Amino acid sequence: MYYIGIDLGTSSTKLLLVDDKGNIVNTVTKDYPLDFPKPGWSEQKPQDWWEACLNGVPELLEGFDADQVVAIGAGGQMHGLVVLDDNDNVIRPAILWNDGRTEKEVEYLNETIGKEVISSYTANIAFAGFTAPKILWMRNNEPENFEKICKIMLPKDYVNYKLTGVHSCDYSDASGMLLLDVEHKKWSKEMMDICGVKEEQLPKLFESYEKIGEVKDDVAQSLGLPSGVVVVAGAGDNAAAAIGTGTIGEGGCNISIGTSGTVFISSTQFGVDENNALHAFAHADGGYHLMGCMLSAASCNKWFCEGILDTGDYAAVQEKIQADLLGKNNVFFLPYLMGERSPINDVNARGTFTGLSLDTSREDMVLAVLEGVAFAIRDSFEVAKKLGIKIETSKMCGGGAKSKLWAKIFANVVGIPLEMVKTEQGPGYGAVILAMVGSGKYETVKDAVDDLVEVVSRIEPDAELMAAYEERYQKFCKIYPAMKQLFKDLRN
Ligand code: XUL
Repeated sequence: MYYIGIDLGTSSTKLLLVDDKGNIVNTVTKDYPLDFPKPGWSEQKPQDWWEACLNGVPELLEGFDADQVVAIGAGGQMHGLVVLDDNDNVIRPAILWNDGRTEKEVEYLNETIGKEVISSYTANIAFAGFTAPKILWMRNNEPENFEKICKIMLPKDYVNYKLTGVHSCDYSDASGMLLLDVEHKKWSKEMMDICGVKEEQLPKLFESYEKIGEVKDDVAQSLGLPSGVVVVAGAGDNAAAAIGTGTIGEGGCNISIGTSGTVFISSTQFGVDENNALHAFAHADGGYHLMGCMLSAASCNKWFCEGILDTGDYAAVQEKIQADLLGKNNVFFLPYLMGERSPINDVNARGTFTGLSLDTSREDMVLAVLEGVAFAIRDSFEVAKKLGIKIETSKMCGGGAKSKLWAKIFANVVGIPLEMVKTEQGPGYGAVILAMVGSGKYETVKDAVDDLVEVVSRIEPDAELMAAYEERYQKFCKIYPAMKQLFKDLRN
C-alpha cells in the first residue's frame, strides 16, 4: 500500500510517495512563482498549486502500482487567503502568510477593537499575515471582489477541495485565520461579524487526521489514481512538520528552518501567551501548541547566496567559514527581510547589516546571516522561557537544518541539544502520517509516530561557544530597538 504526502510550500509543492512501512519511495517537486506586486505584498495563484499536483502526482506514481495508493494528506503554507466565487472560480490571487499589506487592518483589530478582546475570541492577536486582516483588507480595498466571495479557504484546503469537492479545514490551520475560537475549536461568531463573513462561507472543521472525503472519480482519472482514495484534512505546514519529527503530546519542541522559521511547542493542554507574542494554535495530534514564527529564515540565506553572491551552492559558500570565526563575528544581520512576526510584530522592520568595516569579508557576512536567523529564533525561545516553559531539547527540520554549520550555530545560540530525525521531509511526511491514521493503518497519531519516527543524530551545544553566543545575542537584542523608528520612517 502507498500513501501520498503533499507539502504545499511557498516556492514549490513537494510530493512524497510512502510505502506502508513508512519508507519514502519517490519524491517529485514542482516549483511555481511567488509574486511581490508591491513592496511587502506576497501573492501566488492557487491554480499553480493545483497544476503542481495535477502534473506531479502522475510523475510520482511512474513505475509504481498506483492501485495501491490508499490515502492522501497535505500540509500547507498557513494563513493564505484563497477566495472562490459561486462558480468555484478563484476571485483574486491568494494573499500569502508573509504579506504585509494589512497594517491598517491589524491596527484596527489590535488597537480599535483591542488586543484583549480579539485574544478573548481567538486566543491570538492580529498579525499582518493572518487571514482575518486580509479579509478586512479585501472589504476595504476591493469591495467588488469581497462581494463575490462564496468560499474562503486556506492553501492546502484549496487542493483538498479540488481533490474531493469538500470545503474543509483542520483545526491547526484554521487557528491561523484569526476566525477560530482555538480553545473550543469552533468558528468565532464575533470574529465573523467583525470581518463581515458568514459561517456558510467558511470551511467545515475537522481534526487533521480525519477523513474529509475521497478523491472524485474524474480527478482520480486525471491523476492516475484508483477510485476511493481517502483524503484527510491535513494540517498547517508547521503542525504537519511537527508530526513528521514526532513533536506531539506534552512538552515537545521542533525548530523548522524553511522559508519561514518557527519554534513549535506542543502541549496536550490549551494555553495562551498572555503577551500574544507566540501564537496559541491547535495541533494536528488533537492537542494544542504555542508557536513563534519568523517570516524570513532560510530565505535570508537563499537571498544572500543567490541574490547577492550569485551562487546556488550554499555548501561551498559555508565551507569557507573558518570554525574559529564562530562566536567572534563582528558583523550582525537583522533578518527582517519581509517585516517580522514573532515576537516583534512589525511589518515595517527590514534587514540590515551592522558592524561592517574595511576588513569585513564575504565569510563574515554569510556567517552574520546564519547567526542573525538563529538569534531571531532565540527571541521566541526567550518568550517561552518567560512563560515558564522549560525546553531542554528540540527536534530540528527544514532546508536550513541540512547545513551542519547552521545547525551547530542554532544549538549554541539557543543552548540546547538539537535532534534530527531519519525521515526528514518536513510537512510532507507528517501529512503522510495523518493520511495513515485517517485511512485506518494506525489508530492514533501517537501510534504512528512511535512506529515511524526515529531520531538519528543529536548536536550538543558547547559551553565555550554558548558563552560567546550569549554575549553576541545580548548585542543583537539592541539592534532592532535602535532601528525601529527609522524602519517606520523609511517605509513611509
Ligand atoms: C506560520 C507561518 C509560516 C508559513 C510558512 O505561522 O506563517 O510558517 O506557514 O509556510
